[in-house]
Amino acid sequence: MKISLMLSLAALAVFSLEACAKQEKVLNLVPYPQEVTISSGTFKVSGAAFNCDPAVDARSQEAIRKFSVRLSTTSGKVSTFTTPVGLAASAEAGKVKGFVFTADETLSSGEYSIEVSGKSVKVRSSDFYGTLYAIETLKQLMPVAVYGSKADENANWHIPCVSIKDAPRFGYRGMHLDCARHFFSVDEVKKYLDVMAMYKLNRFHWHLTEDQGWRLELKKYPELTLIGGFRDGTMIGKDFSSDDGIRYGGYYTQEQVKEIIRYADERGITVIPEIDLPGHMLAALAAYPQLGCTGGPYKVWKRWGISDEVLCPGKPATFEFLKGVLSEVADLFPSEYIHIGGDECPKTEWEKCPDCQRLIAKLGLKDDKNASAEQYLQNYVMTFCQKVLEEKGKKVIGWDEILEGDLEEGATVMSWRGTAGGIKAAKMGYDVIMTPNSYYYLDYYQTKDTENEPLAIGGYLPVEKCYSFDPYESIAPELQHHILGVQANLWTEYIPSNEQLEYMLLPRMLALCEVQWCKPENRDYARFKTAVTDHQFKILDLLGYNYCKAIVEHPADE
Ligand code: ACM
Ligand code: ZN
Repeated sequence: MKISLMLSLAALAVFSLEACAKQEKVLNLVPYPQEVTISSGTFKVSGAAFNCDPAVDARSQEAIRKFSVRLSTTSGKVSTFTTPVGLAASAEAGKVKGFVFTADETLSSGEYSIEVSGKSVKVRSSDFYGTLYAIETLKQLMPVAVYGSKADENANWHIPCVSIKDAPRFGYRGMHLDCARHFFSVDEVKKYLDVMAMYKLNRFHWHLTEDQGWRLELKKYPELTLIGGFRDGTMIGKDFSSDDGIRYGGYYTQEQVKEIIRYADERGITVIPEIDLPGHMLAALAAYPQLGCTGGPYKVWKRWGISDEVLCPGKPATFEFLKGVLSEVADLFPSEYIHIGGDECPKTEWEKCPDCQRLIAKLGLKDDKNASAEQYLQNYVMTFCQKVLEEKGKKVIGWDEILEGDLEEGATVMSWRGTAGGIKAAKMGYDVIMTPNSYYYLDYYQTKDTENEPLAIGGYLPVEKCYSFDPYESIAPELQHHILGVQANLWTEYIPSNEQLEYMLLPRMLALCEVQWCKPENRDYARFKTAVTDHQFKILDLLGYNYCKAIVEHPADE
């Protein structure tokens, strides 16, 4: 009896040692790097010098210098920043101590490596993006205090000895924000960009125009914001006949837009604006009623939903307007892509409108087994906009409705009604961004306990489901290059405050970032969940982000 007890105790001890060793092999990093090899020992980061090869590009050098300042402030010990000539060779010979940043042209854009020994932290990248991602990874290895603004001398300023090789899986790693249904200030948008950058997202899809508000100042059309930027009330809760009677609105000036573009760019993020057309245009019609089928009058919408009142392609002025708007948008945003919407455009008005019907006849558009004449008229509008933007050197993205009827070559399809549109588009040879509502509509509920959740549009999208998406499902290997990446969308009909916005975003955006970044074999929900609850929540706490704790309190029960 005694012996068998001793044997089982010994077995238990071996088991727990094994468990311990295993646990030590995992870091609390999100997104998890492609290759991680942990060895024994640590490196003391507080007070460590930052050495940067002069061959490292200027933007990377600036990011590294800023990181050295941050570490000095938060660790309470000064880390110097210098760019010694001949650093790469001395580092190669193992002569340099502290942080050593070198340029490595064999790495691709965004790729980086980190080698931590007891003596040094060697970081390699070939460009600004790789440098930024290396810095974000290093920050996650450090005490949470590194994200703050005060010195914490009691924190353990050591990082584990580890070798990391990392690169993103997808080039397009997006997060969308609807600033039209509800308006978010420049500071709130910046805070949104900050958390995107922390998790290595690189595309901010900025939804700027809607039935309920036009949020982008355009010099050629000032009434778009002066009139279209404000509504006289908002429906209350889910009561579509109600109206709180409170004037609501706001818009971004071009100076503010430039500031946001610059702020995003410093964090490796490209801002892709969306001008949603030809539907979702009531705010524009309120300002310019001559662009509608009936001539109005129109009001900026106070309720949610899909309006039948849309732009009238039968009026030549509409094309002049679209050209003016998109040209100014193209000049303002450096992004390669401009999103031109294309979703949810009812054709009821076009069917009745003599001007629209005249244009349909003139263009010879006819109903056929694929689409109606009015649908082909929408294709005509979308193609016109695409050509305007192409002349400005831009490419277009549209929601998957643009696949109905004809689609011009060169358009990129954003698949939102599930993945079917994306799969079809890839088969037809179009590029695709996967943003299926069933996985990535972050306005859906995060738990089934809807009584205790803030009012949401509906649905059920726990963090575990966001984590489980396979962007290549049903995509043949030879077509996978058409999948540019993955994005989540945050529509704000039921999100009136920044606090609620963050609650809906986090931590689901962290699940998204692993789908965007990690190879499938590196995804592991249990490891991810531990990292989020043990470490990432602490970072979000320190930075003052609101987030949903459902990952702990309501694990997905499906
Ligand atoms: C969409 O959700 N209407 C793209
Ligand atoms: Zn019309």
